[in-house]
Amino acid sequence: MSPRGRFITLEGGEGVGKSTQLGALAEALRKRGLDVIVTREPGGSDGAERIRDLLLSGNEDRWNAPAEALLFAAARADHVAKTIRPALERGQWVLSDRFVDSSLAYQGGAGGLGIEAVRAINAFGIGDDFPDRSLVLTFEGGAERARARDADGSDRIGGRSDDYHRKVEAAFHIIAAEEPERVKLVDASGTPQEVTERLIDALADLLP
Ligand code: TYD
Repeated sequence: MSPRGRFITLEGGEGVGKSTQLGALAEALRKRGLDVIVTREPGGSDGAERIRDLLLSGNEDRWNAPAEALLFAAARADHVAKTIRPALERGQWVLSDRFVDSSLAYQGGAGGLGIEAVRAINAFGIGDDFPDRSLVLTFEGGAERARARDADGSDRIGGRSDDYHRKVEAAFHIIAAEEPERVKLVDASGTPQEVTERLIDALADLLP
């Protein structure tokens, strides 16, 4: 039986270059001989992708804050059970575009529910499968860059106010200070290659 794989998540506010880095990081890990699957949130399993539509489309007042947090947590429970846990048990490395720290920062920190309350509702579905490492890309002015990129096309959450997105950034810093072993802040400025190297450095102790 192969040893259990590692679970890595890539996090950050809007406009930090997360999509580019996700592909580059997967490639870099594969070059090291690792069997990597890439997944995303909200989504990553059939049921969770359905919940994604409920969360990201519609009016701002479609869900109140607790309902929104619980829907993210429900989608995540299914994603863990159907996609993440089975892959880890097969010995694969799982790289997820967002995971629980997005809920802690967006719903907990910016949405006003509190980081601790959101951690508690998520623990119910995640169980022992918290990430081995969560890499948070940080970039001054990321929200403004995303706004320029998305114009009016941003989703229910990406389209929230600059104040909301500043609180998201602040919450990621709080989470990293609370869980320094698991959560690492990674500077997203510079060339894409430089950022990928920083991400790999922040994982160095886990690499075989
Ligand atoms: P997505 O289109 O995947 O955006 P991005 O490219 O920024 O990752 O949309 C996901 C949106 O949902 C994004 O604005 C962050 C938000 N989100 C939460 O608010 N809580 C969560 O738990 C997750 C996973 C995402």
